[in-house]
Amino acid sequence: MHGGLMEDRIPIAGPSISQREIDYATDAAAHGWYARAEEYPRRFEEAFAKYIGVKHAVSLPSCTSGLHLALASAGIGPGDEVIMPDLTWIASAAPVTYVGATPVFADVDERTWCLSAESVRACLTENTKAILPVDLYGGVPDYDALRPIAEEHGLLIVEDAAEAIGSESGGRKAGTLGDVAAFSFHGSKTFSTGEGGMLVTDDDVLHARVLHLRDHGREPGDVHFQNTEVAFKYKMPPVAAAIGLGQVERANELVAKKREIFAWYREALEGVDGLTLNHEPAETKNTYWMVTAVLDPMLNLPKEKLMAALDKEGIDSRPMFHPLSSLPAYAGQSQSVVARKRNEVSYRLSPWGINLPSALCLEQAQVARVAEVFRRILGKA
Ligand SMILES: Cc1ncc(COP(=O)(O)O)c(C=O)c1O
Repeated sequence: MHGGLMEDRIPIAGPSISQREIDYATDAAAHGWYARAEEYPRRFEEAFAKYIGVKHAVSLPSCTSGLHLALASAGIGPGDEVIMPDLTWIASAAPVTYVGATPVFADVDERTWCLSAESVRACLTENTKAILPVDLYGGVPDYDALRPIAEEHGLLIVEDAAEAIGSESGGRKAGTLGDVAAFSFHGSKTFSTGEGGMLVTDDDVLHARVLHLRDHGREPGDVHFQNTEVAFKYKMPPVAAAIGLGQVERANELVAKKREIFAWYREALEGVDGLTLNHEPAETKNTYWMVTAVLDPMLNLPKEKLMAALDKEGIDSRPMFHPLSSLPAYAGQSQSVVARKRNEVSYRLSPWGINLPSALCLEQAQVARVAEVFRRILGKA
């Protein structure tokens, strides 16, 4: 069973919801109050921490709030710089702006499409306080190259693992590859709670600070309204946590389905020249949150044109992220001016990249249809 009635259109993304999630959510709606009010958030956090292999997991309303809490808990603020990839969703950068720090947009690697260690080195200044790598579309950057830079310069690594539930590098799961990480359970993600997120860390001090800041600057369990500072209110409701518990209990099935969808595309698009799909470097596991194709510019098919052509055939798609330094939201900043010149790879790939339907409800025949239409548009049918 899935999230709703399937329409004829082939959807870009969406969850897989089974009877297990429905039963837990029903129980939470009926009984997740009074003495049981914290039961589902706690069970979801415990199961998620165990799945990822971390000490602490904190359930939240979104991944954005998780990144915000991670930066705020580490004391990052005005005057500080956080180096992150230019090619990502704005939610990776917005929390840096929330705390008053400066996002520094570094370039990405040609094959992983993730933060390039070489570019990070070029962006280091005496104000750099953290690196914020993004596990883009379920792939991971080269953490073996990023970690030594962080160690050498005493920088925190805040891993944006929003899109990488179940991904791995060197046998370790995404979420454990930095010092603190945040996941998203937005309706499009590999696990969904509608909206939701999870912060994970092994750091006891940071974890204690997160618990304090996420509940208006007071200690967990405080019933005397003793706020020691002005902070935030970031919590996940029990019904959402109940759905999340069902999702994490089905982790292997959901991750396997994502990989299966990618394998269907790879097979169906085999032999098409000028097409590059997501990369999976040795010693890593890509969970392919979004199957993404980057086209050779020689094909002269910019992403907007491709999206319109697929749309006419009832197929949903999305553009590869635009470099953040190119967006109106950040365009006016001095960092963006520098980034637009420096980030050659981000600017070269982005115009030709497109996310193909990757919803968990997809069947092989639908992927075959997308591939057939895609080949036709490319004139390679
Ligand atoms: C790379 C990345 N970071 C952060 C987020 C933010 O997640 P959320 O929507 O749960 O705040 C998303 C999800 O959209 C994302 O794709």
